[in-house]
Amino acid sequence: MAGHPGTQATATILEALRKRHSARVAYDAERRPSAQDIGLILEAARWAPTAHNMQNFEIVVIDDQSLLETFGSMESEVSEAFLRENYEQMSFSEEELLRKKVGVLASMFPPTWRSLAEITSGQTAADAHRSLGDTLQQAPVVLLVVYDGRLRAPASEGDVLGKISLGCVLENIWLMAEALGISCQVISAFSSEQVERHVKSLIDLPEHLRIAFACRLGYALTVTASQLRVRREVEDFTHHNRFGQKGLG
Ligand SMILES: Cc1cc2nc3c(=O)[nH]c(=O)nc-3n(C[C@H](O)[C@H](O)[C@H](O)COP(=O)(O)O)c2cc1C
Repeated sequence: MAGHPGTQATATILEALRKRHSARVAYDAERRPSAQDIGLILEAARWAPTAHNMQNFEIVVIDDQSLLETFGSMESEVSEAFLRENYEQMSFSEEELLRKKVGVLASMFPPTWRSLAEITSGQTAADAHRSLGDTLQQAPVVLLVVYDGRLRAPASEGDVLGKISLGCVLENIWLMAEALGISCQVISAFSSEQVERHVKSLIDLPEHLRIAFACRLGYALTVTASQLRVRREVEDFTHHNRFGQKGLG
């Protein structure tokens, strides 16, 4: 690689990709990302690739304190199906997660979500309401990324391509936030039926638009670098010419 013209650029890109992480910690409520930085994040979103260049999204920047507090007072329902599938993907120790290389640590979730007996009894689902306030943790800014299903990629069944495009928007937002030293956590709960309905009415979101996901942005109060992040190895998911054929050499 030495002397390769792309060395510096590739190293920078890889470092940015590796550093991007979910900052699921409290953010400093008093320290809001500047308007200039939010502008850069939106500019990054603007250049996201979208299927057929349909640009099938809108972004609502929420920094109004009382609106954020109202969001924080909402609760999202947690289904038994989610709890069961979530349980399947949990690792109960760092060693287990390092071995599996997929999924997340059980310690991210409340104790009742980590007990199969409680989940199967149905009691957990009956009690499980997730407070958005617990997730938002006083984030000073929330971006709501909104999906416009009318801008469907041509002949894309179920607009799968359009939904993939939203993932590209997500990644661009996240990488720019990371580059600016701004913490980010994706929050899917904003697209749950109950929360979405409430939020839509609060921000006058037209009926045809759907909330795809939210990003909470801010400055983490505690360092998140110590959190264990795992990935499969490249050779685990790479196949050469024929599925199952390993090794590129
Ligand atoms: C489409 C999508 C939805 C996600 N939803 C949530 C979410 O609701 N809450 C959360 O804490 N993280 C969410 N994440 C973050 C993933 O859990 C996270 O990226 C993954 O565990 C890898 O961790 P890392 O971001 O630190 O690399 C989401 C990520 C994506 C791409």
